[in-house]
Amino acid sequence: MIIGVPKEIKNNEYRVAITPDGVKELCARGNKVYIENNAGLGSGFSNAEYEDMGAEILYSPKELFEKSEIIYKVKELFPEEFDYLKEGQIIFTYIHSNAFREQTDALLEKKVVGIAYEDITDKNNEFPLLKPMSEIAGKGGFLMAVQCVQKINGGNGLMLADVCGVKKAEIVVIGAGNSGLGAAELAASLGNKVTVMDINTVKLERAKEVLPKGVEFLYSNKKNIEDCIKKSDVLINCILWPKHRTDHLITRDMLKLMKPNSLIVDVSCDEGGAIETCRSTSHDNPVYSEGGIIHYCVDNIPSAFSQTATTSLCNATLPYLIEIASKGVRKALCENEHLRRGLTCYDGVLTLEETGLKQKRPYSSPEEVLNIV
Ligand SMILES: NC(=O)c1ccc[n+]([C@@H]2O[C@H](COP(=O)([O-])OP(=O)(O)OC[C@H]3O[C@@H](n4cnc5c(N)ncnc54)[C@H](O)[C@@H]3O)[C@@H](O)[C@H]2O)c1
Repeated sequence: MIIGVPKEIKNNEYRVAITPDGVKELCARGNKVYIENNAGLGSGFSNAEYEDMGAEILYSPKELFEKSEIIYKVKELFPEEFDYLKEGQIIFTYIHSNAFREQTDALLEKKVVGIAYEDITDKNNEFPLLKPMSEIAGKGGFLMAVQCVQKINGGNGLMLADVCGVKKAEIVVIGAGNSGLGAAELAASLGNKVTVMDINTVKLERAKEVLPKGVEFLYSNKKNIEDCIKKSDVLINCILWPKHRTDHLITRDMLKLMKPNSLIVDVSCDEGGAIETCRSTSHDNPVYSEGGIIHYCVDNIPSAFSQTATTSLCNATLPYLIEIASKGVRKALCENEHLRRGLTCYDGVLTLEETGLKQKRPYSSPEEVLNIV
């Protein structure tokens, strides 16, 4: 099939959907790959590296969309890209249709096949295309904390590493999922005092198996949270907060319990979610102070680690793209129930219940639109 990889246009987005190695895999299977001029530069990959692996560089995004049967991307589509879409085209990217209403309109009007990374599942009912970015967000969130607590950056002047004769810094990680494990692994490996909290005891047991000795594991309840935030120098929120919840785990009032000028890194970045005082920030202006506590709430942490993130994302998404390109999209969707879970829209019909309910739109199941009985 013909696959087009556009340059990402979101502010501060340096990732790209494919590595040069990925191009080689696609071309070896008889596919044609177009890469937009300099699409990989932000991740350290030049046009020449893609060309060496068999890709052709195109200089206009319009031409790339026109010539491609599959658009392989990282982020959602932006209004300037909507006009380029054509009927039957396959859009394979993080779509987040429930968050971007205008994009959902465009995908339905243009009758494209939208397959969203974030909704594809695996045999454990987990989300294999969210996992790699969560791990990087958790690890990256800790690395950002290393900078934010430095005096020269407005912090309390701590080094988040073991120094002989000095009390260890206290890092509290809430949520023992993909991002929480990433943050805790790095924090513990540098010799900090790390506490990991979760409400799921199976997750805590799994975390205990993989994290270094010395990490403390605590059930996440109100009392334990209060005790932990009193002692923490850095609190890293890695919870997947349910969209319907309107309460908070850490309220504005609870910030008074924390050490003055200590740090919250909100990897989850749900505005008004688990952390009441969280509002999304960008890499240009990543922190703000509220209630005497520094907040770091960047919602695309992986972009700061673009080469690593691009490679990890491509490793995870490419097998699905190869399946789509080899079988054709309909056959791939019919035969692979996990890929089918990612189907957002097909031939002008919304197929994601969550978006249908949130945006009050009609929707059908993927099985209905594909006539799978
Ligand atoms: N900022 C970024 O750039 C970025 C990048 C990737 C992911 N994320 C976000 O990070 C968040 C976490 O992603 P993940 O893949 O690690 O999720 P995950 O599902 O792997 O882990 C979430 C964990 O939170 C736990 N949890 C739920 N309620 C809790 C509570 N009250 N107390 C303690 N633990 C609780 C769950 O049991 C689970 O173990 C998501 O919101 C995701 O969108 C942010």
